[in-house]
Amino acid sequence: MDAAKTTERPKRQNAAFKHLMLLHWIMAAFILTLYFTGVFVARPLQAPLWLMSFCHQSLGMLFLLLLIVRIFLLLRVVGHKYTRRSPNVTSNWLQTIMLHSSLYFFMLVAPISGFFLRNFIGLGTTLFGLPVPSLFAANNTWVALARSSHFWSSYLFLAFIVLHALAHWKVIRMTVRKRFVTR
Ligand code: HEM
Ligand code: HEM
Repeated sequence: MDAAKTTERPKRQNAAFKHLMLLHWIMAAFILTLYFTGVFVARPLQAPLWLMSFCHQSLGMLFLLLLIVRIFLLLRVVGHKYTRRSPNVTSNWLQTIMLHSSLYFFMLVAPISGFFLRNFIGLGTTLFGLPVPSLFAANNTWVALARSSHFWSSYLFLAFIVLHALAHWKVIRMTVRKRFVTR
């Protein structure tokens, strides 16, 4: 029975899950660049502002578009996983669901608040040269709120990313060992 248990590997590596994880790593690379460029955009004297701002807005807006694809893939993965059996609700499972939901929340709020901030300041937004129409007219009273929303959502997001990376550290170490350490 034990042998059967160990050979029976979870069948979660379906195509949708592989695509979801591919997008996961692409978006993780985007996030790294967004923090780097964001810090320069907020402190313009230290770098060529237009370039940092161009990259920050464009990557941020593309991130938002990729998020739509990611949610679609996630729904396919969840559908595939739970149509035949319902989830085994343990405290571990609930913790993971809460952490992943928080990450999705920040993946949505961080770029949207940045976009709204540009709208309220009265600046246009670009997606690698394509103009993205503003949803709001310039409005001084909303600038401070949008700015602090963008600041706090970005840095809280970072705190959750660190928690998430710590939670998966063992998985990453095992994968690296399995792939790169030959016996
Ligand atoms: C940089 C920002 C990151 C975000 C926003 C993020 C978010 C997520 C989310 C929401 C999931 C659930 C699957 C999905 O819906 O995509 C996930 C899965 C995963 N993440 Fe991350 N992640 C990030 C970075 C990292 C890092 C740095 C590591 C490694 C230390 C990591 C390791 C993993 C692993 C191993 C899984 C698969 C978990 C499973 O098997 O269910 N992630 N991530
Ligand atoms: C996941 C997506 C995003 C992340 C993680 C992110 C992160 C950041 C960070 C860390 C800062 C520096 C904050 C500071 O230290 O004061 C920043 C600044 C800024 N970001 Fe983003 N950003 C994202 C998307 C966007 C988007 C889509 C836009 C606009 C279209 C945008 C517009 C701005 C602006 C205008 C600033 C300067 C804020 C200021 O003047 O204080 N961001 N961002």
